[in-house]
Amino acid sequence: MRKNIVAGNWKMNKNLQEGVAFAKDLEAALAGKTLKCDVIIGTPFIHLASVASSTKLGVAAQNCADKASGAYTGEVSAAMVASTGAKYVILGHSERRTYYGETDAILKEKVLLALANGLSPIFCIGETKDEREKNVHFDVVKKQTVDALFELSAEDFSKIVMAYEPVWAIGTGLTATSAQAQEMHAYIRQTIADKYGKEVADNTSILYGGSANGGNAKELFACPDIDGGLIGGASLDVEKFIPVIEGF
Ligand code: 13P
Repeated sequence: MRKNIVAGNWKMNKNLQEGVAFAKDLEAALAGKTLKCDVIIGTPFIHLASVASSTKLGVAAQNCADKASGAYTGEVSAAMVASTGAKYVILGHSERRTYYGETDAILKEKVLLALANGLSPIFCIGETKDEREKNVHFDVVKKQTVDALFELSAEDFSKIVMAYEPVWAIGTGLTATSAQAQEMHAYIRQTIADKYGKEVADNTSILYGGSANGGNAKELFACPDIDGGLIGGASLDVEKFIPVIEGF
């Protein structure tokens, strides 16, 4: 059966010392608790090796290159990410799509390289406010999923963690209602079932992201198709992140 996962996405926050201290503090705070989910922290590249070697928590990069290696100044390859001990990579975040021009075609390459290097992509999809108002949100999410992922084999697809992040809910304090999130998660699962079959769909973890926090996590995670969260702001402080983890 699919896993419950709570993953933090620090985005461009915390220097190396702060990041390492956070990981230690989080691990200490979770020790002795019975967790009902896997916990992952998504750090900037420079933290990966230090955090992965000093904690048993899952560690995710927030991006990787769309090329395997070579003359690509400033880029970090999936192989490099994997060599740090990180097991996950967040791909397709709306901030990467919007600010860095990442298209479905680019993301398809990144996903292939991540998988080839043994990383599980946490693949983000989600519509803008305008797209929801125009009632095309289901189409948008389907296209993002199909164009970047649906040439994968069923075996490779089963390594993907999906994350539904409505762009209008990210960092805005506007959370999708649990009914809106559940409706979209069920749609995403059905889309996966149509392509890969019910078993693969039932085994795919689909996380919700967008102003999720300790106050709303429990209600969101209680929905049948919501298997956890991808958490931005509330993942930056141990005291705020723990109540999200305890939403399960
Ligand atoms: P917030 O939780 O800050 O809204 O960010 C969500 C997000 O983008 C996680 O990837």
